[in-house]
Amino acid sequence: MSKIIEMKNVAWRREGKTVLNDINWSVNEGESWALFGLNGSGKTTILNMLTGYIWPSAGEISVLGHKYGEVDVRELRRSIGWVSSSLQEKIYGSEKAQDLVVSGKYASIGLYEKPSSQDYDKALQLMQQLRCGHLLDRTYQTCSQGEKQKLLIARALMASPKLLILDEACNGLDFISKEGLLGSIEELAKGADAPHMLYVTHHTEEILPVFRKTLLLRRGEVFGSGLTSEMLSGSVLSDFFEMPVDVSWSHERAWLSKS
Ligand SMILES: Nc1ncnc2c1ncn2[C@@H]1O[C@H](COP(=O)(O)OP(=O)(O)O)[C@@H](O)[C@H]1O
Ligand SMILES: [Mg+2]
Repeated sequence: MSKIIEMKNVAWRREGKTVLNDINWSVNEGESWALFGLNGSGKTTILNMLTGYIWPSAGEISVLGHKYGEVDVRELRRSIGWVSSSLQEKIYGSEKAQDLVVSGKYASIGLYEKPSSQDYDKALQLMQQLRCGHLLDRTYQTCSQGEKQKLLIARALMASPKLLILDEACNGLDFISKEGLLGSIEELAKGADAPHMLYVTHHTEEILPVFRKTLLLRRGEVFGSGLTSEMLSGSVLSDFFEMPVDVSWSHERAWLSKS
């Protein structure tokens, strides 16, 4: 079985500081993972590496069966969808929702090529799948935060990626928008030709059951990895946070409180 992600003894050092140290992690075909860690633990740095925007100081990385250093990362990036809040800031507010989604086919910000009617059909289908089809003619700036995230996910799916990365997708969302977005992500993950997904967060309760495996990242090191149900236990997380916590499971999601 080929690996979706493989990191071997990966480190990243900057300005005398070790941001990532000895990261070992494999994502197998058919798996969707959560990447869990506090602010500043190195989650986004790992994503920057997986997408070839930064280079490891040590170790080896393969993504979708291609070893970095031996592959054109720009080519590989076409197979990886990445949704993050820093992407949100780059979108033109006046762009129409459907054009924004269609632009994902070219991985461009803004539209420079004329899309075909099939492209628009596909964009609409993706928006409907994410329950935001009604936004078709709206401009991006008039959409709510949760709607914007859905549009960016639809945009990332336009290129039919093999790997979809969602970095802090629910940040800043109110309860209703957050549950709405999580519901759409769950449906997407259960779909027939769903991409492999990597859900990055610092909130345990956002980790949906479809993310069966979780990597716990602490201070740039792998604290643990394996089944989500085992990683998100009271005893593991109490060690992880260095503070006693209780976990209660409801709707197959782990809710955290201080014990
Ligand atoms: N280009 C950089 N130069 C130096 N330090 C960086 C750089 N990028 C990130 N860091 C540091 O690496 C640490 C991890 O950051 P990040 O990966 O963004 O964490 P997370 O996404 O888990 O919140 C932080 O302490 C951050 O300040
Ligand atoms: Mg981050």
